[in-house]
Order: sequence, then structure tokens, then C-alpha cells
Amino acid sequence: MIKEITLQELNTAKFIHEKMDDIKNAVGGGIAINALSGGVDSSVVTMLGHKAIGKQLRTVFIENGLMRSGEAAQVEGLFKKLGVIVEVIDAQKEFFAALKGITNPEEKREAITQTFYKNVFGRIVRESGAKFLLQGTILTDVDETVAGIKRQHNVFEQLGIDPQETFGYRILEPLIQLRKDGVRAVGKELGLPEEMFRRIPFPGPALAARVIGEATPERIETVRKATGVVERIFKNTGAFQYLAILHEDRVTGMHDGKRDFGQQIEIRCWNSIDARTATPTKLPFEILEQLAREIVREVPGIVSVTYNIATKPPSTIEAV
Ligand code: XMP
Repeated sequence: MIKEITLQELNTAKFIHEKMDDIKNAVGGGIAINALSGGVDSSVVTMLGHKAIGKQLRTVFIENGLMRSGEAAQVEGLFKKLGVIVEVIDAQKEFFAALKGITNPEEKREAITQTFYKNVFGRIVRESGAKFLLQGTILTDVDETVAGIKRQHNVFEQLGIDPQETFGYRILEPLIQLRKDGVRAVGKELGLPEEMFRRIPFPGPALAARVIGEATPERIETVRKATGVVERIFKNTGAFQYLAILHEDRVTGMHDGKRDFGQQIEIRCWNSIDARTATPTKLPFEILEQLAREIVREVPGIVSVTYNIATKPPSTIEAV
């Protein structure tokens, strides 16, 4: 049972010192690898690890082909300013090969998990001689996985999976007692720029969690373009999280005066504190209209844009 530290209970300075000590003690004179995606959780863990063990930490960003537009370069650049060197590892082909033909949501998540931990990290860890993988699992990830709602890509021990046995390395999870609000407070205390610790959440399986059905390079590109529009237009809404989902069903529409059996994008924009429950944001209709206009203009093949108005539960934040 993991003991939760709520935002109210959290003493960020004390928490940081304790976790730095834990990391130092675990890694000793060895090497640890750190999986950075650029999200709030992994950015905070990267900074914690960097402060704790400096050059003994190798930080890698896995380019899985499922990230948002320009994400690898952006994350690399932001961390460079903080004195952290990020190695970008191109594994796009491996991920798309693993996802080929898979439409079931849990199988999709599992394919990504295996490719990430077993193949890509397994290889990096073997080559580097590292014994530890440092990552930003938080309590919400564990809760949802244990409850059987969604198998989060980064949860193992709570499911009875021993990473040491399965993958050959140990996983250190310094943020596991926190929720998103606590992680943000720690990020602020660590001196991360606001654009980093205020970033909206983005799931481990990345855009593959936002494509219903097979995640092919083409379909990922479609949802990537729609994501770009949504993030640009919703940037100042103050919402907890906003996203675009590519549906599998097609609907009749028209393009250039011709009938087109086109694709559909669903938009979600959530108000939430900790992602456990969420309600749709009451956005002005003008913003929704602007969004629809720009999506159909910028994303080829889209003839329908819808806005989700159901709450979590029974919905979840992501669609896959
Ligand atoms: P759901 O869709 O379960 O999402 O309501 C709750 C929050 O978690 C994020 N999410 C993930 N984060 N690995 C993560 O690190 C995952 O596999 C994953 N799946 C969902 C989601 O974006 C939301 O903020």
C-alpha cells in the first residue's frame, strides 16, 4: 500500500531532500537511466535525479513516433537551458512495427509498454551498464491500473511484475506518493520554468492513446495535426487537459464540392484537480466554432468535429 502525500501535507523542500537522498543511496556509485518524455512528471523526476546524482544520470528521450509536433527538440532545448543533456533515441520504426494491426486498447498499451521497457530500454540499459531506470510514476497511475480501469504504461510492481526479473533493471519512482498537484508544487520548488510544471498532462502511450483503432503512422499524423490546433486554441482556457481523438467510424461529408466519406475528430477539454474525476469545460461556442474551422482546414480528411460533454466517470480522460 502506497502512502499518499496530499498537496496540503506536502513540504516540497523536505520532500526533495528526502528523495534526493533515496536516489543517491539506491544508485551509489553506479549509473541510472532516466526516461524523460517532457511531461510534468518525468520533467520533475529528471530534475530531481539530476540534482541528486548529476552525471551518473543519463537522460534519454525516446522518439517513439507518437509524440506531438516538434516535441523532442522542444524538450531537449528546454532541458539544455537547465544544464541537463538529453539524448534523443529514435525508435519510431520499432514502435510502429509493434503497433501494426492492433486495435484493442489494452493490447495497444501493452505493445507500447513492451517495446518501451523490454526492447528500447532493455537495450539502452544493457549497453550502458545501468542498474536503475528513474521514472515519474504518480499515485493516479497506480490507482487506475490496480482498479483495472486502464493499464498505465508505467506500473509494474503493483501488478506483481518484478521489473528486475522481467526487464533486467530496477525502477525508481520518487513521485509515487504524489498526485499531479503535488508534482507541480515540487517542480516549482525545483526551479523548473512554469511552462514545464504547468504543462497539461500527456499520456505515456502518447498519441496512440488518442487514435481509436490501429495507430498507423498516417493516423497518428492526423491526430498530431488536430492536437496542434487544439493546444494552440485552448492554451489560455486554464483547463486541466485538452485533447483531440481520431475516431475509426467514418461519416459522409463533402470536400471541394464532392461527397467524401471522411474521418471524425472528437475534442475533449477537462476541468479537474487530480484527474481522478473530471468535468467538461463550458467553453464559449465561438471558441468551439473557431476550433472546428481550423481543424477542418488544417487536418486533411476530417469532415466532422465533435465536443465531448460527458463527465469522468463514466468517461475517462483519454479515449484509449
Ligand atoms: P484517464 O484516461 O485514465 O487518464 O482518465 C487519467 C490521467 O492520466 C493520463 N494518462 C496516462 N499517464 N501513462 C501516464 O503516465 C499512461 O498510460 C496514461 N494514460 C492516461 C491522462 O492523460 C490523464 O491525465
